[in-house]
Amino acid sequence: MVHRTVNEDTLGAERSNGCKLLFYGSMVNTAVRRLIAVSAAGAVIFLSSGCSRPNADRVEGGPEGHGGFQVTATVEEIMVSIIDPAADAVWDSVVIVVNENGIETTQPETNEDWLTLRRHAITLVEATNLLLIEGRAVAAPDSRSKLPGIDLEPDEIETLLSADRATWLELSGKLHESGVQVLDAVDRQDVDALLVAGDRLDLACENCHAKYWYPGYGGRLDEGP
Ligand code: HEC
Repeated sequence: MVHRTVNEDTLGAERSNGCKLLFYGSMVNTAVRRLIAVSAAGAVIFLSSGCSRPNADRVEGGPEGHGGFQVTATVEEIMVSIIDPAADAVWDSVVIVVNENGIETTQPETNEDWLTLRRHAITLVEATNLLLIEGRAVAAPDSRSKLPGIDLEPDEIETLLSADRATWLELSGKLHESGVQVLDAVDRQDVDALLVAGDRLDLACENCHAKYWYPGYGGRLDEGP
């Protein structure tokens, strides 16, 4: 078991400004959005309980016409089941709490902690390739926007995607890049680099969502794709 010694004073001084707090801010931002989504989803379930069977009419894509790949999950399912949990593990791996007692930091400590985080980073990096496979539906046929008027409906997203697949490929590439940055920080067991990479990761999510999922709602404007 390896214990890393943390100099709270130095880290505290560094983290009270600059990109590290930005990262903390973006986590809050994501959490707030998710809260809105969760309460909206709750309302939908209440109103239409019993009629949601997401896999009911799944159309399996066979190897023909998809470059030899067999496409099963939708983009939405890849987000929910693979990308989001892996990204959450990265964002939750370093938690900095600033209160009247000072700054408390929770971070990966043992080799086992880093190994667990590394598994999530690998998942994240390779999941980006799943987004590149052609013939994958955005969502199941009966999937509907949880925030109508803010989030586009799946068929509107499909239209955007087929009109501009190049940008989709580029934004998936940016997600891959930020995932590699996370992996690199994990391999160096470098917490500061992990915070910076976590912020790049958030930016990569936001830039694609702002283009294809909730255009007009706005994403992070600090940097384009
Ligand atoms: C290349 C584009 C792209 C990137 C990059 C991307 N997403 Fe998505 N994501 C989408 C699209 C499109 C949707 C909307 C699909 C739908 O729900 O209809 C979506 C939806 C989601 C959803 C909601 C799924 C639902 O409807 O319940 C979550 C959660 C999510 N993404 C998480 C993430 C996270 C976290 C990242 C970054 C680590 C990320 N996404 C990066 C394109 C992207």
